[in-house]
Amino acid sequence: MTLEPGPCKGLQPIRMQSNEHGIFPLQQPGMNDGYLDFVNSPLGNWLAKSLGLPKPLVLERYRAGQPVIDGPVLLGGGGAPELLPALARVFKIIGAQTLAHSQLRQWTPVANQAGLMTGAWGADGTGEKLKALVFDATGMDDSTQSDALYQFFHDSVRSLKACGRVLIVGRPPEACKNPRKATVQRALEGLSRSLAKELKRAIGVQLLYVTEGAEEQIESSLRFLLSPRAAYMSAQVVRVGLPVGPASTPADWAQPLAGKKVLVTGASRGIGESIAQVMAREGASVICLDMPQAQPGLDAVAHSIAGSVLELDISAADAPQQLVDAALAQGGWDVVVHNAGITRDKTLANMKPHLWQSVVNVNLSAQERINDALVASGALKSGGRIVCVSSISGIAGNMGQTNYAFSKAGVIGMVQSMAPLFAEKGITLNAVAPGFIETQMTAAIPFALREAGRRMNAMSQGGLPQDVAEAIAWFASPASAGLNGNVVRVCGQSLIGA
Ligand SMILES: NC(=O)c1ccc[n+]([C@@H]2O[C@H](COP(=O)([O-])OP(=O)(O)OC[C@H]3O[C@@H](n4cnc5c(N)ncnc54)[C@H](O)[C@@H]3O)[C@@H](O)[C@H]2O)c1
Repeated sequence: MTLEPGPCKGLQPIRMQSNEHGIFPLQQPGMNDGYLDFVNSPLGNWLAKSLGLPKPLVLERYRAGQPVIDGPVLLGGGGAPELLPALARVFKIIGAQTLAHSQLRQWTPVANQAGLMTGAWGADGTGEKLKALVFDATGMDDSTQSDALYQFFHDSVRSLKACGRVLIVGRPPEACKNPRKATVQRALEGLSRSLAKELKRAIGVQLLYVTEGAEEQIESSLRFLLSPRAAYMSAQVVRVGLPVGPASTPADWAQPLAGKKVLVTGASRGIGESIAQVMAREGASVICLDMPQAQPGLDAVAHSIAGSVLELDISAADAPQQLVDAALAQGGWDVVVHNAGITRDKTLANMKPHLWQSVVNVNLSAQERINDALVASGALKSGGRIVCVSSISGIAGNMGQTNYAFSKAGVIGMVQSMAPLFAEKGITLNAVAPGFIETQMTAAIPFALREAGRRMNAMSQGGLPQDVAEAIAWFASPASAGLNGNVVRVCGQSLIGA
């Protein structure tokens, strides 16, 4: 079914599409990537090949009801892999077909005992095409064991399908008592980031550091990182630790946020709209917040997901108290997503003071005040989640964006400094730093700069708002109690700040 709501004041009409789990926005007019469409047509494909032009692939993105992974997973490991039983448990639950690389042969009894369905895989080119490569490096305690990594990836990377996944699992170096072990675990980062650059074909490569004792917390991360939900994410390092607050497994993984109340700021359009849609798809009741001026768009988004509307300027002095009152009136909230943000670009020498102040206030200080008030009052419940939207500008810096980059780097600082404190209240705090995402914000960038921003990443294209929203939903899940203080980029491995 296709719905065409009337044009909203100041906004483009949004084309909506329904499926069995709700209504989802398609890309907004004027924000599509014409080059991507063209090179994926028969004529464009031929032309791109003949002229040696880059050919970005159409990314596989999650559709409700899809399996986590739709092809074989090859497992390998170095040293005495410590995570095999935990990996086996998750692969069994998600129904993944798992094959063992020959280097795991001696560990097959361990894996089988844990219920892992291991079959053999031929490294001689006769083996099946693979959807994912998973290497358990947790047992590696010296760099002299690195041949196992070389052998596994050398054998298998050519068999990996487009839009495939690579996951390396290790131990957080900072928690390793043995310096040799810390060294080799840290070295995994260089391997994973370089592989991500080499593999291309929209293959995402991630490194998951799992703290000893946190093995039971990996399920939500495996479900996310191996699936099409992580379509535009690559070369990221994620840390899974001991659970913050109550750890829980959703009764229904298709709707992990069922019964949860989720506040999304800046929800009237762009990334915020998509976050609201994905949260609703995951089962949440969504409170859609935006400025009073954004009311038409806000109403349309809230209506499409049966959510509620909150018109508020988050930078107003009384905003924290208003939010506390609104949350307590609803019996408390479970998740807060700080998505609202603004840019007011000028070089610092040409910047008027109000441009500096408004950006820092909206993007950073308001979030700090709101978090403090919601947590101190208990309006954000124990077991709650706060997810912030940073930016790669906050990691790499950007010409004409000193105010914006200051505020977005500050968001990262806030996550890192406040996460341990909020953990005492059973609340996690994480951030997603998007790269170039196709929204009205980026549609306003001059053509040449926009094209550069789109192509300068390992996937040669911009991301969609859904890509950011899926990562936020992963952090927001009640099953993600082991994720705290993480900042991940959703940027297709952008060259900027890499
Ligand atoms: N689009 C990108 O490529 C990109 C890249 C990196 C980071 N981001 C970040 O992602 C977030 C969303 O970006 P977008 O592209 O969807 O932007 P957008 O401008 O389309 O949407 C931002 C929303 O926030 C709302 N907002 C702004 N100030 C507010 C305030 N004081 N109170 C309440 N609501 C307010 C706006 O009304 C708007 O609806 C922002 O934080 C942005 O900095 C975007």
